Amino acid sequence: MSPSATNGANGTNGTNGTNGTVANDANTFSYPEMATPYRVLQQYHSKPTKLRVACIGAGASGICLAYKMEKMMVPGSFELVLYEKNEVPGGTWVENTYPGVACDIPAHLYTFSWDPKPDWSNYYAYGGEIRKYFDNCIERFGTRKYIKVNTRVIEARWDEDRGVWNITLEDQQTREQWKDWAHVLINGTGILNNWVWPDIEGLHDFEGPVMHSAHWDHGVSFEGKSVGVIGTGSTSVQIVPSLQPVVKDMKVFMRSSTWVSPPFGAGVLNDDLLSKSSTGGEDSKRQYTFSQEEKDKFANDPAYHLQFRRRIEAEINSLFGMYQQGSAMSEHFRKVITEEMTRRLGPGNEKLKEFIIPKWAPGCRRISPGDGYLEALVKPNVEPVFGPLKNVTKEGIVTADGKLHKLDIIVCATGFKVAFRPAFKLINGAGQTLDEDWGDKVNLYLGVSAPRFPNYYTIVGPGATWSSGTLLPSIETTVEYSIKMMKKIQHENIRSIDVQQEAVDDIYAHFDEFHKTTVFQEECRSWFKDGKIKNRIYLWPGCTIHFLKTIKAPRFEDYNIRYRYGNRFAYLGNGEVKANVTGDVNGLATYVRNNDEEWDVE
Ligand SMILES: Cc1cc2nc3c(=O)[nH]c(=O)nc-3n(C[C@H](O)[C@H](O)[C@H](O)COP(=O)(O)OP(=O)(O)OC[C@H]3O[C@@H](n4cnc5c(N)ncnc54)[C@H](O)[C@@H]3O)c2cc1C
Ligand SMILES: NC(=O)c1ccc[n+]([C@@H]2O[C@H](COP(=O)([O-])OP(=O)(O)OC[C@H]3O[C@@H](n4cnc5c(N)ncnc54)[C@H](OP(=O)(O)O)[C@@H]3O)[C@@H](O)[C@H]2O)c1
Repeated sequence: MSPSATNGANGTNGTNGTNGTVANDANTFSYPEMATPYRVLQQYHSKPTKLRVACIGAGASGICLAYKMEKMMVPGSFELVLYEKNEVPGGTWVENTYPGVACDIPAHLYTFSWDPKPDWSNYYAYGGEIRKYFDNCIERFGTRKYIKVNTRVIEARWDEDRGVWNITLEDQQTREQWKDWAHVLINGTGILNNWVWPDIEGLHDFEGPVMHSAHWDHGVSFEGKSVGVIGTGSTSVQIVPSLQPVVKDMKVFMRSSTWVSPPFGAGVLNDDLLSKSSTGGEDSKRQYTFSQEEKDKFANDPAYHLQFRRRIEAEINSLFGMYQQGSAMSEHFRKVITEEMTRRLGPGNEKLKEFIIPKWAPGCRRISPGDGYLEALVKPNVEPVFGPLKNVTKEGIVTADGKLHKLDIIVCATGFKVAFRPAFKLINGAGQTLDEDWGDKVNLYLGVSAPRFPNYYTIVGPGATWSSGTLLPSIETTVEYSIKMMKKIQHENIRSIDVQQEAVDDIYAHFDEFHKTTVFQEECRSWFKDGKIKNRIYLWPGCTIHFLKTIKAPRFEDYNIRYRYGNRFAYLGNGEVKANVTGDVNGLATYVRNNDEEWDVE
C-alpha cells in the first residue's frame, strides 16, 4: 500500500454509484461503501469487499500471514502490507545472533507445518539456518512484495465511523513520519521482540563491553578475556557452553535456580538417531548432525519424513500432564531431571547442586534443555556466583555480599520485556489506549482479540501456548483464525467486529480455575506471569493441539458485530451467486452429485 493511497476507506471510491449500484462483475472488488437507508446491493451473494490489511512485523507470524492470505482469500480482494522496523524480515532469528543460538525444539518441527524441510543440518537447528529457512520461505512463496522494511508502526487509531485503523509509521532511516490506513490490523510483533537492559545500578559505568544477548556485538573478541554472564534462562544456557572454551575465565551470575532438562523430542532423538550413532553414549551432547543419507531419506520418502515429524510432535503434546502439580508425570520428571542434573554436575560441586536445582516443580518457569551447560559450569575456568547483584562499577560486578568481581566483558542474558501489550500505541474508537483500557491486567481473548479494539488480531499473544513445544503451529492457526475473521468482514459487509468482554471474562475464569492445580502457580518468577512470582497465569490451559482445536474455527457468537449497511443481510445482494456471473455450470449446481460428499457454494 502506498503511503498516499488513502482514498476509498470512506466509501468515496471503488464503485460507480450509491448503495444498490455496486459493480457486479465477478473479479473486480471495490472498497465497501457506507449507506443508509438500506437498499438491495447489486452484487452476487457474499461478494467480498476489497480489504486493506496491515500487519506489524515480518517475522514468522508476518511471513505466514502473507502466504496464508494468498492461499485463503479471493485473489484480488485484498491489499496487504507487512511493516517491519528492521532492515530485513525474520524477527527473532535476525535479532538473536549470540554464540550458540539455537532452537531447543527439534528442527523438523520448527518449520511451517505444511512446509517441511528435509535437509536440516542438525536435530536442533542453529539460528543462522532458521533465519535462512524463513528467508527462503519469503522467496519461494513470492511474498517479499508485501514487506516494507525500516518502517516502525508508532500508533494505530480506530475510526469507528469509517471502520478503519489510521496508522502512524516512522521511517527508521530518516525518522520521517507518515500515515496509512487499513480495515484490519494484525499484531505480528512476537512475544520476545523487545530486549531490555537489566535493572542493575551502574551497568553502563562498566568500562569494558556490555552486551545483551539479543543485541550481540560481533566486533568484540572473547578470547583470553574474563567474562561475566548474568542470567540462568534458556539464553544463558546456550551462551555459557559456547563461550567457555574461548574465554580465559567466566563467572555465571545466578539469581535463581533453573531446571536443565533432557531435550524436547528426546524420544525420537534417542530411539531413531543417537542409539544408532557412534556419539550416542556421550552424556552432554544431545545434538545430532544428520548425514547426507538421512537427509536424502527424508527428501525421498515423504511418508517416512511425515511420520518422523508427527512422532516428535505427538511426544511433546503427550507430555502436557507434567504441568499438573503433583501428577505422576510431574513427580517422575522432577526425579529424573534431578538425578540427571546431579549426575551431569559430577562428584562434588555440592553448593552448585544445592542452588541450581529448583524447589518448584519442572515447568513452573520454562524448562531449558541445556546441551553442555551443566558440564560448562563445572569446568575449571568457570565459577557460578549465587544470589542477587548489588551494582556494577567500571571494573566489574558487585554482588549483594559486597564482593567485586573484576571482569573484561559483561554479557546480559537477562531476557526480554515480554509482549504482554503491544510495543506501539493502540487507541480505540472511544479514544482510550490499550494501556488505559487494560489497566495493570491483560484482556485478550484466546491470545488474539481484545474487547473494544475491533478488527485487530494479535498473533499468539498472552494466553496462548507460550510454554509447551513449538510455537509455529499456534502462530499458523492464529493467522488462519485472523483470516477467517477477515473473510467474514469482507464477505458479510462488516464494518467493525470486536470480542465481547463476557467471553474474555469466561475464558479467564477457566484459566484461573485450571491453573490452580498447575505447576505454573508455584513460587517461581517467570515471564509467563509477567515477570512476577504471583500473578494470573497467561498460558493456554492445555497442550498445543488442544489450543489449535479451540481456535480452528472462530466462535463468532463471542463477538459484537456492526455492519456497514443498515441490514445484516445486505450481503445477500441481488439474488445471484458468483457462478451466475461467471456462467460456470458446475458452480450453479454444486449440490447435484453422485454421493453424499460435502458441497458448498462459492
Ligand atoms: C533466543 C530465542 C529462541 C527461541 N527458540 C524457540 C524455539 O526453540 N521454539 C519455538 O517455538 N520458539 C522459540 N522462540 C520464540 C520465537 O520468538 C518464535 O518461535 C517465533 O520466531 C516468533 O515469530 P513472530 O513473527 O511472532 O515474532 P518475531 O520473530 O519476534 O518477529 C516480530 C517482528 O516484528 C517486528 N516489530 C516489532 N515491533 C514493531 C513495530 N512497532 N513496527 C514494525 N515492526 C515491528 C520486529 O522487528 C520483528 O521482525 C525463541 C525466541 C528467542 C528470542
Ligand atoms: N528455544 C531456545 O532454545 C531458546 C533459547 C533462548 C531463549 N528462548 C526463549 O526466550 C525466553 C527468554 O529466555 P532468556 O534466557 O533470554 O530470558 P529469561 O528466561 O527471562 O531469563 C533471564 C535470566 O536473567 C536473570 N536476570 C534478569 N534480570 C536480572 C538482574 N537484574 N540481576 C540478576 N539476574 C537477572 C533472570 O533471573 P531470575 O530468574 O531471578 O529472574 C534469569 O535467570 C525463553 O523462555 C524462551 O522462550 C528460547
